Amino acid sequence: MQYLSAFVLLLPSVLAAQAPSFVKPAAGPLDASPNSGGPSNGSLPKPSVVAGKQFDRFIQIWLENTDFESANSTATFANLATQGIRLDQYYALTHPSEPNYAAVVGGDFWGMADDNLYNIPSNISTVVDLLEAKNISWASYQEGLPTDGYAGFSFTSANYLNTAAPPYTYYVRKHNPTIIYDSVAGVPARAALHRNFNDFAAD
Ligand SMILES: *[C@@H]1O[C@H](CO)[C@@H](O)[C@H](O)[C@H]1NC(C)=O
Ligand SMILES: *[C@@H]1O[C@H](CO)[C@@H](O)[C@H](O)[C@H]1NC(C)=O
Ligand SMILES: *[C@@H]1O[C@H](CO)[C@@H](O)[C@H](O)[C@H]1NC(C)=O
Ligand SMILES: *[C@@H]1O[C@H](CO)[C@@H](O)[C@H](O)[C@H]1NC(C)=O
Repeated sequence: MQYLSAFVLLLPSVLAAQAPSFVKPAAGPLDASPNSGGPSNGSLPKPSVVAGKQFDRFIQIWLENTDFESANSTATFANLATQGIRLDQYYALTHPSEPNYAAVVGGDFWGMADDNLYNIPSNISTVVDLLEAKNISWASYQEGLPTDGYAGFSFTSANYLNTAAPPYTYYVRKHNPTIIYDSVAGVPARAALHRNFNDFAAD
């Protein structure tokens, strides 16, 4: 088993077909990117790193609605793949989004077959329990998350690209796997580790 020092999920929470054009994340911790619908909230205290046998940090970047062929042919990822392995037989379990996200952190999709609001009971553990048992720090960075630990179903705000357009939904909970589990969302210190994507660079 690999030892991990960071558990990072970058989850686009908008549908590609409706998404405004990409605007770069904030350059610094005190600068907000209008793209992510929330300001940077500073940086977390730097944790001690648990040394791994092969690597010390583990970062998952989730590109919802990006075809494998697109990601695989992107120069940045192709370059990264030369430094490791490419798991090209790694498939979703089911459809639509939410059950797949839930399964990645909890090992099961619990019979879910839609993107509705679910609170998986607090007696169900997740990868967070495994990480914390080894003192391995983690955080989840979500585009458009309005506040740290936000557990609401979605977040809608003014469309910054077109003020004449209706408000735009920047964040949806179905793409935020750990917040769906009460064993995470119900523990304030864990909930607070769900942060806006603008915080990723600062952290
Ligand atoms: C992914 O890209 C690499 C080149 O970077 C290519 O060799 C490989 O065949 C591609 N994999 C698939 C499944 O298309
Ligand atoms: C977890 O709690 C739920 C109700 O909150 C209960 O239905 C379920 O049986 C419990 N599961 C386990 C494994 O204890
Ligand atoms: C985690 O940290 C606590 C407090 O510093 C310590 O008591 C415990 O032994 C550590 N656990 C592991 C698995 O390193
Ligand atoms: C920023 O982080 C602090 C804790 O460090 C928290 O109390 C506060 O609610 C956070 N603000 C936002 C906007 O998330």
